[in-house]
Amino acid sequence: MLSLLLSAMLAMQAMAVMEVTVPEQPVVALHGRDALLNCSFSHANPINLSDLSIFWQLTDTKRSVHSFWGGQDQLVDQAESFANRTSVFHSQLGLGNASLLLSRVAVADEGSYTCFVRVQDYGSAALLLQVAAPYSKPVVTLTPESNLRPGDNVTLTCVAYGGYPQAGVIWQDGSGRNLTDNIATSPVANEEGLFTMTSTLTVVLEPNSTYSCRLINPLLGDEGYAFVTITGQNIGFPPVALWVTIGLAVCLLVLLIALAAVCRRKIKESCEEARREAEEAKELEEGESKTAMTPLKS
Ligand SMILES: *[C@@H]1O[C@H](CO)[C@@H](O)[C@H](O)[C@H]1NC(C)=O
Ligand SMILES: *[C@@H]1O[C@H](CO)[C@@H](O)[C@H](O)[C@H]1NC(C)=O
Ligand SMILES: *[C@@H]1O[C@H](CO)[C@@H](O)[C@H](O)[C@H]1NC(C)=O
Ligand SMILES: *[C@@H]1O[C@H](CO)[C@@H](O)[C@H](O)[C@H]1NC(C)=O
Ligand SMILES: *[C@@H]1O[C@H](CO)[C@@H](O)[C@H](O)[C@H]1NC(C)=O
Ligand SMILES: *[C@@H]1O[C@H](CO)[C@@H](O)[C@H](O)[C@H]1NC(C)=O
Ligand SMILES: *[C@@H]1O[C@H](CO)[C@@H](O)[C@H](O)[C@H]1NC(C)=O
Repeated sequence: MLSLLLSAMLAMQAMAVMEVTVPEQPVVALHGRDALLNCSFSHANPINLSDLSIFWQLTDTKRSVHSFWGGQDQLVDQAESFANRTSVFHSQLGLGNASLLLSRVAVADEGSYTCFVRVQDYGSAALLLQVAAPYSKPVVTLTPESNLRPGDNVTLTCVAYGGYPQAGVIWQDGSGRNLTDNIATSPVANEEGLFTMTSTLTVVLEPNSTYSCRLINPLLGDEGYAFVTITGQNIGFPPVALWVTIGLAVCLLVLLIALAAVCRRKIKESCEEARREAEEAKELEEGESKTAMTPLKS
């Protein structure tokens, strides 16, 4: 029934006299926010709402986004993905404003929307909805992280996530020159369609070098910037780990020497003690013999 009506409307478009106006430029909506799809139509006389029909459709698939006729919203045919997310401004309809409010915009909403209006005459116009989401601030990491020496190959990785559409990534050196070699950039989309941009740059390490990663969202412009500076501190020999090892070894050696000294003293002491004991024993023996003799004396 509805599709019959719609095809009838499409057939009559050729003789449409009603002027329907939508934005010529794509409408850019932020992911998760509301989007206003403006649509206005000319009308000579005051409009009785029961005479007005409005059909918002996806231009490509003709699926219903929102319908209004007979003085009320008609959502039986509405595509499921738009359920509870659309409305037209009832108080504005009589003034020639058939704009659609689309809530909680998702990446999947991107595309062309057609606004059909009928009072006595017909008219329609299509607009383009583009979705944008800002990326997180990019973060640059270095592999390997330590034990770097001039001449080593290092890989710098720049990551930013949660954005849409795909961002451009530009790498620059310390003097602002664009680097173009040995760069690989890959976008990965999550289930919501939002991208994680990962870009890697491989360079031969020089001391005191700076590398920056700039992220450009084509719809939102320049979005973020991160850089690493590789100073003499990152580069060097021996690395911290080696110093620690040497330090530990020296400590151990000192400890061993001290232990040996203590042992020697202890051994000497115990020898002396043994000797003293022997002497004492001898003395005691003599004493005993003395004492043994004493009773005889007394
Ligand atoms: C919708 O149209 C009104 C009136 O022309 C204008 O003020 C407003 O900025 C438009 N909004 C969008 C999102 O295009
Ligand atoms: C239609 O009405 C809505 C709600 O009042 C308003 O935000 C929008 O700008 C209007 N659009 C036009 C084209 O007048
Ligand atoms: C609008 O049209 C309906 C049906 O055609 C009619 O019953 C109603 O009185 C009209 N309302 C106005 C304000 O003209
Ligand atoms: C729309 O809202 C109704 C009533 O709140 C709810 O029953 C239904 O599940 C919702 N549909 C979707 C797709 O969220
Ligand atoms: C660095 O990479 C280049 C090209 O991949 C290779 O020819 C070179 O041997 C590498 N140098 C080191 C120190 O690994
Ligand atoms: C670097 O590349 C970007 C995009 O390709 C360009 O806009 C910019 O002008 C370039 N900058 C320099 C210094 O070449
Ligand atoms: C690196 O920079 C520091 C401070 O800017 C400077 O003292 C040092 O000489 C530089 N080293 C080299 C190898 O350019």
